[in-house]
Amino acid sequence: MSELEFEPAANVDDVQAGEGLRCIVRGHAVALFNVDGQIHAIDDRCSHGEASLADGWLEGCEIECPLHQGRFDVTNGKATAAPCLEAVASYPIRIVAGRVLVAVPR
Ligand code: FES
Repeated sequence: MSELEFEPAANVDDVQAGEGLRCIVRGHAVALFNVDGQIHAIDDRCSHGEASLADGWLEGCEIECPLHQGRFDVTNGKATAAPCLEAVASYPIRIVAGRVLVAVPR
């Protein structure tokens, strides 16, 4: 298994508590969320349709899609409410020198 490569995505301070932040990492649209000071990274595209999850509403560790109100757990990408059935990808992160680094596939 190849070692993960972490790429800079955002400044930690830009990921506000209770909100999502969309960023592009190696061509992937990634949504960052701050849940009680812990930052999580998932795919920004809803598995149900063309919606940015970073534009949704974060409640606890669940993000509600702005289009049809499906939900995902931002800690692991699993779908938690219909109409979303398929998980979205979740990505490992690291914090280095005030920056959020995200590992996405090549
Ligand atoms: S596009 Fe996200 S729930 Fe439909």
